[in-house]
Amino acid sequence: MEKIDWNKLSFGYQKTNYNTRCYYRDNKWGEIEVTGSEIINMHISATCLHYGQEAFEGLKAFRGKDGRIRVFRWDENAKRLNTSADGIRMANVPQKLFKEMVWKTISLNSEFVPPYGTGAALYIRPLLLGTGAEIGVKPASEYLFMIFVTPVGPYFKEGLKPVNMMISRDYDRAAPLGTGNIKVGGNYAGSLNAIQNAHDQNFTNVVFLDAKEKKYIDECGPANFFAIKDNTYITPKSKSILPSITNKSLITLAEDMGLKVERRKVPVEELGTFEEAGACGTAAVISPIGTIYDPAAKKTYSYYENEPGPVSMELYSRLTSIQLGDTEDKYGWVEFVD
Ligand code: PLP
Ligand code: COI
Repeated sequence: MEKIDWNKLSFGYQKTNYNTRCYYRDNKWGEIEVTGSEIINMHISATCLHYGQEAFEGLKAFRGKDGRIRVFRWDENAKRLNTSADGIRMANVPQKLFKEMVWKTISLNSEFVPPYGTGAALYIRPLLLGTGAEIGVKPASEYLFMIFVTPVGPYFKEGLKPVNMMISRDYDRAAPLGTGNIKVGGNYAGSLNAIQNAHDQNFTNVVFLDAKEKKYIDECGPANFFAIKDNTYITPKSKSILPSITNKSLITLAEDMGLKVERRKVPVEELGTFEEAGACGTAAVISPIGTIYDPAAKKTYSYYENEPGPVSMELYSRLTSIQLGDTEDKYGWVEFVD
């Protein structure tokens, strides 16, 4: 293994030792296979290639001060994968198989779990693919479930430094009754032009609005949106956003801190009233938002622009200290691998 500069890791792919795979054929899951190959051998007419029958997950493992490896809320990811599978008519992955493969993949690559104190983590990417051959638009009868891992740093290169976002006025991410609430690849393909458009104008990422009325905040690229005002944690309620496990955890932590919590529609104009704003997700953790530009109104909403706001910072430290095992895991969110 080449020496890794853990403190300088970005959110990129890096080869690790092994990945795990399991095939669903004849209506049942087979044995877990371990391979060192990064290549999938697949039928040219597999449904994932043509019709996007594909769903994925993202979760993280952390090394604590004690050297032990902890996985954060894997059961929530296992559940969400099956919600995604149901949403595009794929075979479900049994929770037991999901866990066994997560554990096996981490154990086989334990040298890639970043050391405590580096701010890096092991990103775990489960992937469910329709591999059966079809040419009509219909679900495959064969599936591949696989998991690979890669060590990562912060998703947004700014880390805990506030990012500048732009409201996406020219592109929607997901239709109101579409697939925005599940984690399928097509949603991400559909967001690429919006993200590129934002990058071209020097913004870190986009804030998507509801596709129907263009009045309410949906989410922030690959992360949920939250804001703070009047001692309240506010986050959008929408049928077209991904139910974020990080957001769900922050809601619990915010309540613990004595904040009120509101999950409701968030109109664009309300951006002018927030004290703090942020993006949250497994990859993004908490990314404080410094500014949000609305090209329709040519207006910029500003928050803490140089450092995270105090509530976002407290949420960040409470979340990461549970993940790293620095504080008591009173909600049972963390499970040991070793
Ligand atoms: N929204 C989208 C579109 C995402 O891709 C993700 C990442 O998984 C999130 C939100 C955050 O979800 P989670 O906190 O479960 O990672
Ligand atoms: C995650 O936060 O796990 C994600 O899936 C975001 C991603 C698309 C990189």
